[in-house]
Amino acid sequence: MIYFTGDTHGERARFSDGKRLGDSAWTKDDYLIVCGDFGYVMYDDEAERAFLDELAKKPYTICFCDGNHENFTTLNAYPCEVWNGGRVHKIRPNILHLMRGQIYTLQGKKIFVMGGAYSIDKATKKNQGLHWEEELPVASEYQEAIDNLRAAAHKVDYIVSHTAPQRIIRLMGFYPDGHDAELTGFLDWVLSETAFKKWYFGHWHMDKEITDRVRALWLDVAAEE
Ligand SMILES: [Fe+2]
Repeated sequence: MIYFTGDTHGERARFSDGKRLGDSAWTKDDYLIVCGDFGYVMYDDEAERAFLDELAKKPYTICFCDGNHENFTTLNAYPCEVWNGGRVHKIRPNILHLMRGQIYTLQGKKIFVMGGAYSIDKATKKNQGLHWEEELPVASEYQEAIDNLRAAAHKVDYIVSHTAPQRIIRLMGFYPDGHDAELTGFLDWVLSETAFKKWYFGHWHMDKEITDRVRALWLDVAAEE
């Protein structure tokens, strides 16, 4: 099974209380994909590394796309490998950062991933030393996404992103922010030009079906076979 959930923000109870995820029966054949703002690779201190070692004992694989609240300096220092058809940063053997524009094949399903978003609290985060310009994709990442979608004939099973396409943001009743309009506009293009079954995104800290195929996730866990 492939499970999807929203922003975890380094909250340890999400993985340790056994209730939020309902992961007690998950096995080595299961995958959990967090739709950005993973947050367990944020402070890079001893306590955080010890918790990652605890997560490494889970039988299933924990994957995440990056959100805007990630420590990209630390993330980018982890070894980059090709995993199931796409590039990842390997945090632990079963904890993987899914990189932007990649398409992975898990259990015969193709999953296109496009992380990143703009931090509306950028000024505060900068003062705290917790802001990275890498929160938004650069031209080479967009190009890699386009090339990979083209190679897949613009057809995947699932799409995972942190923020959402502009049309979806409007359907949620919000106005697309100009600061990451390049990314939300790009995601709008992906929405128009890609055949897919289901799109999961995080960022908005909301659990809601926006359309029959596009779902905002925060605490909810969605399962796909
Ligand atoms: Fe978040």
